Amino acid sequence: VGSGRSRAVGAAMSVFVTRRIPAEGLRVLSQATGCRVQQWDSEEPVPRAELLAGVAGTRGLLCLLSDRIDREVLEAAGPSLKVISTMSVGFDHLALDEIKKRGIRVGYTPDVLTDATAELSVALLLSACRRLPEAAEQVKSGGWTTWKPLWMCGYGLSDSTVGIIGLGRIGQAVARRLKPFGVRKFLYTGSGPKPESAAEFGAEFVPLTRLAEESDFVVVTCALTPATQGMCNKDFFGRMKKTSVFVNTSRGAVVNQEDLYDALAHGQIAAAGLDVTTPEPLPTDHPLLSLKNCVVLPHIGSATYTTRSTMAVLAANNLLAGLRGEPMPHELKL
Ligand code: NDP
Ligand code: DGY
Repeated sequence: VGSGRSRAVGAAMSVFVTRRIPAEGLRVLSQATGCRVQQWDSEEPVPRAELLAGVAGTRGLLCLLSDRIDREVLEAAGPSLKVISTMSVGFDHLALDEIKKRGIRVGYTPDVLTDATAELSVALLLSACRRLPEAAEQVKSGGWTTWKPLWMCGYGLSDSTVGIIGLGRIGQAVARRLKPFGVRKFLYTGSGPKPESAAEFGAEFVPLTRLAEESDFVVVTCALTPATQGMCNKDFFGRMKKTSVFVNTSRGAVVNQEDLYDALAHGQIAAAGLDVTTPEPLPTDHPLLSLKNCVVLPHIGSATYTTRSTMAVLAANNLLAGLRGEPMPHELKL
């Protein structure tokens, strides 16, 4: 245990779990009749060779967002693989075309992490706009000499315009939490207007360019797709106000990080908060980490004990239901 070596946990429906997951989730699998669990029992990601060996001949795969499940993995698994269950709501790490071609069912974990991720998004936004890490550092380093009228000032939400890129489950939960801070106007973008979702916030559907130009805060909560990859680029940041704050809790690849660095370094925008980056982890010598006006977190959006446990149980139940040929609690429609 902890060595990272695979271990057998129970006894005919073989499944491979790619990481140590919350015990509640593993228990669901190991207590299921006829379920034989192989697990990469480590905090660290399964090495590619171990993943390819681990999936061979298995019927079910429980994976994480850090596992790239592509054609190579599917071929290593062979025709026995019937169900893939990811312990995440994001599924950009899954080669859905290849998975669909093989008739494999996919489970994922929407809803159960919405509150935790929205909460973290708000925390990150406030950290960035009110300069919390920078200010806390000043206390430790002796930079706090006295109360100064012009020192450590930032930007507040009161009377602001907030632009949400992707008014989905998490985007709406973020708007719901930000509204009581006195936000004056919500804008949003997406593949089309969503009047029912937007009504609660009086949010206006606008093109991405207008969202960039008018928002005091931009919050990215969309899925990573070919359409959203690199969407926040030089043109986007160039349109933002110098006083605006950018927050991304979706996927790192939605942002062109070099363009974001330039915008932050040259005062094109005021600050940024990122919970997701490319790559993950971000190398400790990455230029973004040298900036005072950029707060970077290690992809902890859903990281509450309760949420991670619920995600693991849901992922396990999705896997079992799929293997039994039953409806999954949350199946991704391919
Ligand atoms: P949803 O499917 O509910 O929302 C995704 C949103 O993305 C939809 O509103 C969709 O809008 C939008 N979208 C799709 N294409 C575009 C586009 N071209 N431009 C703008 N928006 C677009 O998913 P969730 O809210 O549950 O999760 C969103 C993402 O958050 C996940 O895919 C995942 O990557 C990330 N995430 C990150 C976490 C973290 O730890 N930081 C935790 C959990 C999730 P439309 O309906 O109009 O297409
Ligand atoms: C997801 O679920 O997609 C997040 O990135 C991690 O919870």
